[in-house]
Amino acid sequence: MVKSVQTPEPQLLKPGIKAPVQETLLTPRFYTTDFDAVANLDISANETELRAVIEELRADYNRHHFVRDEEFKQSWDHVQGEKRRAFIDFLERSCTSEFSGFLLFKELSRRLQKKNPLLADAFNYLARDEARHAGFLNKSMADFNLSLDLSYLTKHRTYTFFPPEWVIYTVYLSEKIGYWRYILVHRHIEKHPEYQFYPLFRKFESWCQDENRHGDFFKALLRSQPKLWQSWKARLWVRFFLLTVFVTHTITVFERATFYEAIGIHPRQYNNTVIQETNNTSARAFPLILDTSHPDFFWRLEQCFLGTQRLAEIKESKAWGLVKFWRKIPPMFSIFSNMLRLYLIKPIDTESTRGTVR
Ligand SMILES: [Fe+2]
Ligand SMILES: [Fe+2]
Repeated sequence: MVKSVQTPEPQLLKPGIKAPVQETLLTPRFYTTDFDAVANLDISANETELRAVIEELRADYNRHHFVRDEEFKQSWDHVQGEKRRAFIDFLERSCTSEFSGFLLFKELSRRLQKKNPLLADAFNYLARDEARHAGFLNKSMADFNLSLDLSYLTKHRTYTFFPPEWVIYTVYLSEKIGYWRYILVHRHIEKHPEYQFYPLFRKFESWCQDENRHGDFFKALLRSQPKLWQSWKARLWVRFFLLTVFVTHTITVFERATFYEAIGIHPRQYNNTVIQETNNTSARAFPLILDTSHPDFFWRLEQCFLGTQRLAEIKESKAWGLVKFWRKIPPMFSIFSNMLRLYLIKPIDTESTRGTVR
């Protein structure tokens, strides 16, 4: 049985400025990479598609979209309690991950300017979009009398190094999962406007098209690098990244079940649909996808969430350090073994059917 976790009261850095949540494996991370290796990527194997996607980014279809219209100009003090806390938490998490994308893309654009102007332009367009997204979310937080100090975040977060291959796999997946997350919330609110307690959700339709285009750019980049989809190693990495993204998504959705319930979304149905759709979409980029129809698939994902919940309970308990350490072993083993069993489920080959319409 999955129980709802209450969202803690936001901690303040100074009045009106929210302290960033404690970094864990699950909080959105900040990345850095080998910029020279990205500059030297040979994209000739898929240059036509890449140039076409970059033209789409250059067109900047959403340049007039991120405007805070009249609807935003009112007090939101009537949104209270768990709904308010869960919504602020959602805004912060989304803002941090949008901002993390901005920083990585901006730095890529800056470092590639001389060596690879085509990719530098592309990253500049991506940074432009993510800055708008992060800014819009931060202004929404300000409507709830809080905001994130993004320059503080830039300086104080730890940066994780990912080689370019990992960046391409993970950013592709996060853009596509971001698309499905936003579009499914938008479609739900469109059908059930009574849950639209704040006008942000109205913006999601065009917003998610940005994420879709970003994903298409990374798909074109990935397909320009045959070693990222042709080799047996690539197949193992793709399975790994699909799985880790889906496990992380499941844990964050169930941890924030109260937010989804506040907007009338069933967390389990939402999680399963986001994962199924992202998995199907990624067949266009990856040589294989996971078998989400396997009877154990979603059950094991949820077992991973239950494991993290038990770990959190142990961490907060008053037991001694060594006792806590021993108590953590069974849930850690459970998470590891469920992930291993998920990894070993036979994947679905997508390369053999490539060229057929999806
Ligand atoms: Fe974004
Ligand atoms: Fe994006």
